[in-house]
Amino acid sequence: QKDGFRFFMEKEIYEQSNVVSDCMLGRLQDEEILFEELDSSILNGIKEINICACGTSYHAGLTASYLFERHSKIRCNVVIASEFRYKEPLLNKNSLFIVISQSGETADTLEALKMAKNAGLKTLVICNVDNSSMTRLADNTILTRAGIEKGVASTKAFSTQTVVLWMLSLYFAKQNDKISQEVLQKELHALREVPKSLIVSDKMHEKTRRLSKRYLHGHGFFFIGRDVFFPLALEGALKLKEISYLHAEGYPAGEMKHGPIALADPELFTIALMPENLLYDKIKSNVEELSARDSTICTISPLEFELSDDFIKTQEASHYMLEFFEMLVVLQLLSMEISIRLGNDVDMPRNLAKSVTVE
Ligand code: M6R
Repeated sequence: QKDGFRFFMEKEIYEQSNVVSDCMLGRLQDEEILFEELDSSILNGIKEINICACGTSYHAGLTASYLFERHSKIRCNVVIASEFRYKEPLLNKNSLFIVISQSGETADTLEALKMAKNAGLKTLVICNVDNSSMTRLADNTILTRAGIEKGVASTKAFSTQTVVLWMLSLYFAKQNDKISQEVLQKELHALREVPKSLIVSDKMHEKTRRLSKRYLHGHGFFFIGRDVFFPLALEGALKLKEISYLHAEGYPAGEMKHGPIALADPELFTIALMPENLLYDKIKSNVEELSARDSTICTISPLEFELSDDFIKTQEASHYMLEFFEMLVVLQLLSMEISIRLGNDVDMPRNLAKSVTVE
C-alpha cells in the first residue's frame, strides 16, 4: 500500500503533483476559473470573508487571506476555530463564512461552522472528505480531491486546499469584476504550472536527506517568511514539531527584531524562505540581521545568498506561488528526513491523532 515508499507521508508528498492536477480538473479552464458546485449567487451581498480552521488547514486559511484581499479585494479575517468559538464573535450577515478541513470532522471547526449557520451566514466548506459532518452542514462545498491522507502530518491536503483557495480568490475576483483579463491570464498560466512545481526531484530529496544529518542536532528552529511565505513558515515549523519533536517556531521575518532575535546563536537554526518574486530584498535584510547575531542560516531560494550556511536551491519561477509550492515540498521532506533519522514513527507521531473530534 505504501507503493515502495518508507512511509505514507513520503508517498503522499510524492503524490502532490498528481492530486493537485485532479483538484484543478474542470475548474481551471482555458480563460477562467469555474466552480460548478458553488451557488452562483454566493457573493451577492457579501462584503467580507471569515475563515475558521485548525492546524495545517488554518495555515491554508492564512495563505488565502493574502490572496482574497490581493485578488478579490474582499476583506478577509482568519481565526483558529478553538479561539473563534469562545471569543463571542460578531457575525455579520454580509460575510461569507469559510471553514477548511481535511477530515470534515474536527470538533472545533465543526462547532464554528454551526455557529455561523445559526447566525444565518452563508457558509462554504473546503474539505477532502465527501459526506463528512461539515460537508453535510455547509451551504456550499468544494472538495479538494486529494484522496485518502493517512499520514498524521498533513501534506497533500494542504497543497490541494491552497490551490483551491488560490483559484477561489480568482473566481471571486472575476465575479466582482476586480481583476483585469491580463492579470487573470497570468494567474491561470501560473496555476497550470503548479503540478510541475510539486514534483519531487532526486536532487532536492537528497539535499534534504544530507542536511537532516546536522539539523537533527538543532536546539531550536525559526522558520521565517513574509506575506504568504509567513503561513508557509508556520506550516514548516508545525511539520517539524509534529514528527521530529524538535522545537520550532514560524515567524513573519519582519517580526524577529521585536523579540525573537534575542534567541539567536549558532545552535539556533533559521530556515529562511526567500522567494525571488516577492519581497526578496526585505527578507534578505531580516536574514542579514539574524546572521549578524550568529544564527545558523539555511536559505531556501532560487538565489544564492552569501551569508547562508546552507542553501537549498529552488527553481526560478515566473510566479511567487510556484516558489511557494516548491518550498512546501522542501519543508515537508526536510522534516520527514529529520524524523526518520531520529527513529520516530513518521506516520503516527506520539500524542497525535489524524482527526481531532473532541474539543
Ligand atoms: O482535518 P482537519 O484539516 O480539520 O485537521 C486540522 C488539524 O488537526 C490538522 O491539520 C493537523 O494540524 C495536522 N496534523 C497537521 O499536519
